[in-house]
Amino acid sequence: MKIRKASLVIAAAFVFCQAMSQPTLSIIPQPYYTDVQSGTVLISPQTVIVSINKEAPPTIEYFNQYLSNLLGYKLKVVTSTPRDIPAIIFDIKIKTDAPDEAYGIRAEKNTIHLYGDGKGLFYAVQTMLQLMEQHLASDKKSCSFPFCGIYDYPRFHYRGLHLDVGRHFFSVDVVKKYIDLMAYYKFNMFHWHLTEDQGWRIEIRKYPKLTQVGSKRSETIVAKNFDPYIGDHTPYGGYYTQEQIREIVKYASQRQITIVPEIEMPGHALAALASYPYLGCTKGPYAVGTKWGVYDDVFCAGNDSTFTFLQNVLDEVIQLFPGKYIHIGGDECPKTKWKACPKCQQRIQENHLRDEKGLQSYFIRRIERYLNSKGRSIIGWDEILEGGLAPNATVMSWRGEEGGIAAAKQKHNVIMTPGKYTYFNYYQSIDTSEPLAIGGHLPLSMVYNYDPVPAGLNAEDAKFILGAQANVWTEYIADPSLLEYMVYPRAIALSETLWSQKDKKSPDKFLTRLKVELKRLDRLKINYSKNALGIIGTIGRSPSGPGTVQLQLKSKLDNSTIHYTLDGSDPTMNSPTYTGPIKITTTEIVRANLYINDTIFGREYRQQFVMHKATGKKVVLTTQPDRDYNPGSVFDLVNGVEGNDKFNDNNWFGFKGEDLDATIDLETTTSIKGLAINFINSPGDWIYPPTALKLLVSNDGFVFKEVFTQTKFEGGRLMQVTIPFDPVSARYVQVIAENMGRIPRGKPGEGNPAWLFVDEIEIY
Ligand code: ACM
Ligand code: ZN
Repeated sequence: MKIRKASLVIAAAFVFCQAMSQPTLSIIPQPYYTDVQSGTVLISPQTVIVSINKEAPPTIEYFNQYLSNLLGYKLKVVTSTPRDIPAIIFDIKIKTDAPDEAYGIRAEKNTIHLYGDGKGLFYAVQTMLQLMEQHLASDKKSCSFPFCGIYDYPRFHYRGLHLDVGRHFFSVDVVKKYIDLMAYYKFNMFHWHLTEDQGWRIEIRKYPKLTQVGSKRSETIVAKNFDPYIGDHTPYGGYYTQEQIREIVKYASQRQITIVPEIEMPGHALAALASYPYLGCTKGPYAVGTKWGVYDDVFCAGNDSTFTFLQNVLDEVIQLFPGKYIHIGGDECPKTKWKACPKCQQRIQENHLRDEKGLQSYFIRRIERYLNSKGRSIIGWDEILEGGLAPNATVMSWRGEEGGIAAAKQKHNVIMTPGKYTYFNYYQSIDTSEPLAIGGHLPLSMVYNYDPVPAGLNAEDAKFILGAQANVWTEYIADPSLLEYMVYPRAIALSETLWSQKDKKSPDKFLTRLKVELKRLDRLKINYSKNALGIIGTIGRSPSGPGTVQLQLKSKLDNSTIHYTLDGSDPTMNSPTYTGPIKITTTEIVRANLYINDTIFGREYRQQFVMHKATGKKVVLTTQPDRDYNPGSVFDLVNGVEGNDKFNDNNWFGFKGEDLDATIDLETTTSIKGLAINFINSPGDWIYPPTALKLLVSNDGFVFKEVFTQTKFEGGRLMQVTIPFDPVSARYVQVIAENMGRIPRGKPGEGNPAWLFVDEIEIY
């Protein structure tokens, strides 16, 4: 009896353990439905591929090509099902009620059955390849594919990634690799930004100068040296021949990716104007742009020859790109030259247009009419809403979600690309070692949590949201490895936002699956950013009271340890192990490394602290920073951490057209004798130093006495202003930095509200 009982317990434990250790499926984007059973189908050189339909071979060939890289061999393809040998069945089955792009996988006994419509079958392959990668034998020659069932289809049918090849040119091979990676994560639209002020990148046979002249610039601005301008004295250029474009279109199509070519108009056209000066209002001379930003010279909208030119260009573009959409740009088109151009003004009068915005609308409508007559549809950036939308246009909402909301309410299709959530040229961490980027802060979590359907839309209008896209502007992305760094793993997070049903998303589970997927990116030698999984530091008020702060260190990686130092030395395995928040009381640097076993993962974490009399004290702001540049808590103005010169670090308080007016409560009457405060001085980003800086003191918080006013400031991009003064005793300190207000003529961003960036306020 005793023995029987014991064996029952053991048997029960065995079943339980089996259930526990059953393989779970790790797939990104998360499928609609999955189940797993114990057991596997062996994939080995003996496995055959069964091709049921005549449309399946291109996908089978793609699969076999991938296998030859993964396992070192291809599988034999046959047309009927052999019962006794392991088989992978490719089956194009179109159920009339299945959503577009749906697919299924059923793996049982000795068969893996993949089915779906033409596109769906390709996505079945992508899911299968992810799983195969995770179940390779140790010799990497075979794979034990888990018994499972999957049924899947996408939430959105527009799942896009963009690439700007105007600012920097990327070779055919790099573009193909970009497309390959897109395919792994079930993206289906590649928005290829082919023309820019700084370079025209597509061969147009009728206008050879577009590439002879327009694809080359004399040099490129160095970093952010706008004012004074510094160039690199190195000619730069590149373009795609029509033959290369055809090759890429075919390559993308084999991966179920449609290319949306963008030919920019009426703005961002300087390279075209430099090639054919008759296209501009002043007729030139023009030169291909060498610095970033927005140029005043645009296509002349009054001259019919502009439209003849563009129609001829578009005729060739249509021949090259079979997809439905042509993107015609429409963003950032200054009206300065149109205002002064007799032909543009005549056009406004003759067509009874209200103003230059009306002329922009006329321009886009005229191009739309032409492309519609050729059976194509236009996409434009959200500025095409100004002056009235062209009747059939799809709007790409980039300046926020508002353009998309307005267009959807007008029953126009919309693709969401709001900068705040989808600009992969923004910084992805607050690490000071991030490579120079355009600005912003878009961590992986923000991409993941983004929902392309704006909260304010009702269900009826929400149907006009076709999907979303991440944009990759390449002003500061000059080489392919940096391109991978900026796009991955953020694109993987976006893929789940675009494909998976909303209720299937979970940030924690996503990270668990991402860790698995990163092994494939390692095998493929993709230079992805590790910062999302590396050490994240959070600085907060210390419970031990005012004048101190504490630093908490965390990583999302399991089985990892953090070792740190406070004396500036290299953190090694022998440095103290992090076990809880570090109290910071003096000016010092924290350096830390994340270890998995004895290997460092990702970059070293570094944080410099500067302790002063206002550290951790209470601050009240009279005016609030702009939503996009607001660390979220006024504590950050006095948290002992100075904002860095890339302003990617979530420390900066950005005031748009407004002053900084901060009052700090030092809690007791304190003798003080100096202010140190940092500003950003980056006219190219429309960020200017203050016009005046004042410090006032008070003992009752009511009557304030001025200590000084300063109106002259000098310094570089990170402008550190230190002002000593005769010692005074005070409890309250008020610091006012006056914003320039509207940016004056002749300076970058003229006429717009100036940005004032502040951090930190230090009192000594
Ligand atoms: C854009 O970022 N100018 C569309
Ligand atoms: Zn004109």
